[in-house]
Amino acid sequence: MTTRAGITALGAYAPSTVLENADLEKRMDTSDAWIRTRTGIRRRHVAAEDEFTSDLAFRAVEDLVDRFGPEALDGVDMVIVATNTPDALFPATAALVQHRFGLKAGAFDLLAACPGWLYALSVAKAYVESGQSKKVLAIGAEALTKLIDWEDRSTAVLFGDGGGAAVIEPVDAPYGLAPMVLGADGGGAQHLHAGAIGRCLPDGTKLDGKVRMNGREVFKFAVRVMDTATIEAIDAAGLTPDDIGLFVPHQANFRIIDAARERLGLHPDRVVVTVDEYGNNSTASIPLALTHALDEGRIADGDRLLMVAFGGGLSWAAGVVVWGGGRYGDGRRPTAARTSAAPLELGGTT
Ligand code: ACO
Repeated sequence: MTTRAGITALGAYAPSTVLENADLEKRMDTSDAWIRTRTGIRRRHVAAEDEFTSDLAFRAVEDLVDRFGPEALDGVDMVIVATNTPDALFPATAALVQHRFGLKAGAFDLLAACPGWLYALSVAKAYVESGQSKKVLAIGAEALTKLIDWEDRSTAVLFGDGGGAAVIEPVDAPYGLAPMVLGADGGGAQHLHAGAIGRCLPDGTKLDGKVRMNGREVFKFAVRVMDTATIEAIDAAGLTPDDIGLFVPHQANFRIIDAARERLGLHPDRVVVTVDEYGNNSTASIPLALTHALDEGRIADGDRLLMVAFGGGLSWAAGVVVWGGGRYGDGRRPTAARTSAAPLELGGTT
């Protein structure tokens, strides 16, 4: 019988410092109304000055252990941290996680912009299903606000920080991850980037170390790719949109999420929205949203969850997971459930 990989444990973390839209109004020429109607974001959680991606990753794994027990980490033989903001170019942030939790495991970072965590899931799936790994810890952690130009209101209002972690290991049918859809188009690199070592992109766009974005182009790309990638992922799972129990998209902009939901013909009740609370925390956004959905009792054994993300590259990823099959309990912490509803006021020109 072929092995199928599934998600058997999950955890997440968001820094305690919260930056409200009203706080941003004091720092730049913007308004709470503009931010809410254009993006759905009300606030974002921001890493402290001395808090870095590895710290966010540690806390997300600690949350996973609190929820599912230390046995969830027993036998982890590979750690992957998907991030765009590693503590250092090397060592890998994943090696710091491996050491912190005393794991006898390989460790590497994976950079694929915001879809990075879904790319990490696809690698974990391949490792587990091929027998290369028995158990993979796949983390998405991001301290993106450290790369924000606080003078640039068109990017500064969008991003936040956080972490999410999952254990991937063999599960019995019908549980587990369906084949994933991964894509990239480096021809759009100039529309969304943050420089590190290189001085410019192939088209001559200068890099200055900060996140730079052509919001309109990224918006159009995002709406297009959320549509095509989700349909491809649903097809790859042998399903139709009606089979999807919960849609868990990358949390970048409520208008983008809502457009994708509408194209899939899903009722708003079947979409997880956390962008209002966290803004866009890149690779952390989907595992964080999944963890919220778990706490809110919105994920049941056997549910088919559709995940999709887009970002710099340009890049995208999507996949369906049939939830369940783990042996560590349901991991739910109802007391931590979030009550704020999805934002309703929408506007904008894009
Ligand atoms: N506050 C007030 N006004 C603003 C702000 C702000 N924070 N930012 C821009 N504006 C102004 C602009 O200057 C412009 O003014 P003008 O008409 O006088 O020139 C006006 O608002 C409209 O600007 P647009 O860019 O047309 O606004 P739009 O409705 O497109 O919304 C936004 C902008 C929210 C950035 C949208 O384009 C978007 O969400 N794009 C996708 C971004 C995204 O998801 N990025 C993350 C990708 S994931 C990753 O990998 C990081």
